Amino acid sequence: MRYVTLTDVFVHPIAQKYLKRSGLAHAIAVAYHAYRLALHHGVNADLATKAALLHDIGHYTWYKNGRWDYEQYKQNDIHAIKGAERAHKLLIRLGEHPQNAKEIALAILLHTDSYLPDGEWKRKPLQSIVKWADEADEEPGGRHHYRTISDDLAFKKISQLDELVDRHLGKKRLDDII
Ligand SMILES: [Fe+2]
Repeated sequence: MRYVTLTDVFVHPIAQKYLKRSGLAHAIAVAYHAYRLALHHGVNADLATKAALLHDIGHYTWYKNGRWDYEQYKQNDIHAIKGAERAHKLLIRLGEHPQNAKEIALAILLHTDSYLPDGEWKRKPLQSIVKWADEADEEPGGRHHYRTISDDLAFKKISQLDELVDRHLGKKRLDDII
């Protein structure tokens, strides 16, 4: 059973604000990668796609004189921590099951090593999938954050991914019964 769909998340003003800040096209591409990886590794596709869609919503705007200040970003960034918290709050508000909201928040928290002192962490499968999905869409110089997509196409892709997740979960339930 899905408590909250990708579409529910996507249309919420908070998600719109922060998804657009860190790149809507990237977030959607990562959600699709996460779907594929979740199926391949037998991980819950509902949780993986929502965690992937929201993985970068914690970004702050490190601009200085109209340009992205990479040094400031590298020294001070905590987007995984902030994103985990934002995603958790949003999901709970939308009616997500608290256990799911926690799993998704933890996967977002651990999707990058950038803020971890020793750079390594023993990840659970869901957490690894969000990290791999993010890496699969990465472009040199952080260009993946600047790819654009129209609102219409973004909505269409999100609805299609919702259908894929629904179909997969429905089939899984049928397989479990049979
Ligand atoms: Fe990312």
